[in-house]
Amino acid sequence: MMANRQLVFLFSSMLLVVLSPTVTAALEQDLADLDSFIQSLMTCESKPIVGLAISVVKNGDVVFSKGYGKRDLNQGLPVDNKSIFGLGSISKSFTATLLASVLAERDDVTWDTPLVDILGRDFRFQDEYLTKKTTLRDVLAHRTGLQTFSLQLLQYGMDIDRAEFARRVRHFSEVHPFRSVFSYNNFLYTLAGHVAERLAGKPFEQLLRERILFPLGMNATTFLADALEEGDFSNFAQCYLTYNKNGSSLTLDREAFRFVV
Ligand SMILES: *[C@@H]1O[C@H](CO)[C@@H](O)[C@H](O)[C@H]1NC(C)=O
Ligand SMILES: *[C@@H]1O[C@H](CO)[C@@H](O)[C@H](O)[C@H]1NC(C)=O
Ligand SMILES: *[C@@H]1O[C@H](CO)[C@@H](O)[C@H](O)[C@H]1NC(C)=O
Repeated sequence: MMANRQLVFLFSSMLLVVLSPTVTAALEQDLADLDSFIQSLMTCESKPIVGLAISVVKNGDVVFSKGYGKRDLNQGLPVDNKSIFGLGSISKSFTATLLASVLAERDDVTWDTPLVDILGRDFRFQDEYLTKKTTLRDVLAHRTGLQTFSLQLLQYGMDIDRAEFARRVRHFSEVHPFRSVFSYNNFLYTLAGHVAERLAGKPFEQLLRERILFPLGMNATTFLADALEEGDFSNFAQCYLTYNKNGSSLTLDREAFRFVV
């Protein structure tokens, strides 16, 4: 099943913090301070945190890696330093970084090249002016003014690829004048991922692995569609929409993230 590979959601087991170089004893003290800071953070009542994991990398070495809190409240399972979290919209920074890497190799394409010049005449928005003018810069800066969501055009569980997604963009309506406002748009980041595919001639997932994940040693990071098929969620941190320390918590099914880009 190739469902929804275009709607990428990354899972990563690491949040990276890079400390400035210090002598070993000082570093150990810093790490102990960090640990107690996070432990006190975990007791915060007003903005309770269910679970988190943190790794500190210094000069390419992982010098600290620890989980805090729970990865599953119902089952009382702890977060450890191998727990997998959904990255949510942090995936967008991967898309933008990938595009920077692809554009750096090209003399003919920039952030300001109209998308239609990259994707070809098949690609268009409803509005002809928008089709002619919209660039990667507009898309990544959330300033196209296009509608943010459409259940008719995109639904959870839909079996379409990024190319088909790019084709459907023509049905999105403009809800703000072009370049007039910041209007956050998840779906257009999927389009940006497709632009990277078209420019580099490889699937988005493969590009991300080759250019970002593997060079950083982020080999445990995977994509939702792959993860759902491989089915190993034994150390997955459940996503919670709300968390009340003395009451119920609302969970978010990871399938819902098939949407999120
Ligand atoms: C990860 O956790 C294990 C078990 O708690 C611990 O032994 C190991 O040192 C941790 N890894 C790092 C890099 O801190
Ligand atoms: C990550 O995977 C790539 C490709 O399989 C491999 O070349 C690389 O050595 C791996 N890195 C680590 C840190 O395991
Ligand atoms: C905890 O439970 C009590 C009793 O049900 C309730 O009054 C209180 O508001 C709850 N605390 C929070 C943070 O919701």
